[in-house]
Amino acid sequence: MEAYNLTVKPWCSCLLLGLFAVITFLSSFANAETHYHEFVIQAKPVKRLCRIHNIITVNGQFPGPALEVRNGDSLVIKVVNSAQYNVTLHWHGIRQLRNPWADGPSYVTQCPIRPGATYTYRFTIINQEGTLWWHAHSEWLRATVYGPLNIHPRLGSPYPFSTPKQEYTLLLGEWFDRNPMDVLKQALFTGAAPNVSDAYTINGQPGDLYRCSSKETVRIPIESGETVLLRIVNSALNQELFFAIANHQMTVVGVDAAYTKPFTTRVIMIGPGQTTNVLLTADQPPAHYYIAARAYNTAMNAPFDNTTTTAILEYKSASCRTKKGQSSRPILPQLPAYNDTATATAFTAGIKSPSQVKVPTAIDENLFFTVGLGLNNCTRPNSPRCQGPNGTRFTASINNVSFVFPKTNSLMQAYYQGVPGIFTTDFPPVPPIQFNYTGNVNRGLWQPVPGTKLYKLKYGSKVQIVFQDTSIVTTEDHPIHLHGYSFYVVGSGFGNFNPSTDPAKFNFIDPPQRNTIGSNPGGWVAIRFVADNPGIWLLHCHIDSHLRWGLAMAFLVENGVGQSQSVIPPPVDLPQC
Ligand code: C2O
Repeated sequence: MEAYNLTVKPWCSCLLLGLFAVITFLSSFANAETHYHEFVIQAKPVKRLCRIHNIITVNGQFPGPALEVRNGDSLVIKVVNSAQYNVTLHWHGIRQLRNPWADGPSYVTQCPIRPGATYTYRFTIINQEGTLWWHAHSEWLRATVYGPLNIHPRLGSPYPFSTPKQEYTLLLGEWFDRNPMDVLKQALFTGAAPNVSDAYTINGQPGDLYRCSSKETVRIPIESGETVLLRIVNSALNQELFFAIANHQMTVVGVDAAYTKPFTTRVIMIGPGQTTNVLLTADQPPAHYYIAARAYNTAMNAPFDNTTTTAILEYKSASCRTKKGQSSRPILPQLPAYNDTATATAFTAGIKSPSQVKVPTAIDENLFFTVGLGLNNCTRPNSPRCQGPNGTRFTASINNVSFVFPKTNSLMQAYYQGVPGIFTTDFPPVPPIQFNYTGNVNRGLWQPVPGTKLYKLKYGSKVQIVFQDTSIVTTEDHPIHLHGYSFYVVGSGFGNFNPSTDPAKFNFIDPPQRNTIGSNPGGWVAIRFVADNPGIWLLHCHIDSHLRWGLAMAFLVENGVGQSQSVIPPPVDLPQC
């Protein structure tokens, strides 16, 4: 009996343990939720800067509704287009594994949703935690059509830092007094740079430093001593931003829905498309402090919006005193100079993964992409259509190809259905001509060639891309965003990338994981990823004026072996062109 028991017990506990493992495994799925939403794209009058404007919104909300989900959850979002424009929505940073149909860029993974039509986006969040966001991805609709997509840890799993008392999302935006769609239209007609914005906003509000705005300034209440999580998103159309809170330090804990090694800073720089999560502790005398953001501008001789948006950090114990009229105007934080590249670069370089990560080595595809602006010469320089510098039209390119979006089909639909003539797959892996990219570039190299060229990647290939900014027209920080992927940022520098000395300095230990990274102005940045997501994925500058001028390309990642490595079939309601 004794012996029997001895032999049975370990087997028995093994079974119990196994059963327990199966139950936890299943319950982690049982806990995953599916969230259903209806997003009605519709015009709505809102008052900003003393005037009523009719803007395009989701469900009449500006900014749009916040999506709060957990890692592992699924989303089903029915989009009803009740506006007068074609529209698509993009879930910025969601990997959309094998599911390009839910990604959203207009004429890339889908044809636009026509006025009066609907389309339902269905996707699951797989191993991503932190802050992402969603936005319109056709023309300049994203100026007002955007909102947060906050991904919390699975039920029962904690943050890798002590749980904050509160969480606030701060969407930094750009406000145009004119209809943004008309601003773009005019720029595309004249060939000149589009008008700059009239205000920056925090959660849709310009704040105290603008006319007719202080009543609506966003207020963030905080209790003395407590720590809160701020999810900061740069949803501005065309501008990198500095962000700071008067008298307070912030601890960066995540970017682009990936955790980072915590580090403290007084100021953050955030490019369009990027997100930054910071912890903020109320460790200052109870009072009101301004939260502020303004431009980090790297383009030379280019006009930019130099105004400052503010919200107010309000210590709760200080608000009573305000009522007695003792409180004065909140203190403004010191923001870096508009062109403070040293501060911007130091901040970005401080972002690291929390611990050692598996960076792909033994690269299969070594790509070198020049990114920058250009000028198209006009035959009649005095024409109203040639109001760019010296009677030209602005353009932009990667490796001298200025990306042209198809008009009669989407790339993904053409690829899936085998429709010829929509794109070619001869995007050059290196620029057609080598030159001193950041030097004084010969005028003959300023005019790129238009084309709808894709670069083919084998499933599972290990890819390195070096983005090299050029000084054509101007050097500039271009926030490059890759759809369908996150990548490791392994290195960056100024001047021309040197393939024989720079790779030795790459960080293969703890590089940050991101979906959007700026090329240094007059410099370069290197990224690595494994092409494990089949489909067609857009890569572009997240400054929307540059995107429209052609600072984009797309990867065609081929299917691997079997269903689990292949693009899923398109949904039946996918819009046709
Ligand atoms: Cu957030 Cu292609 O964009």
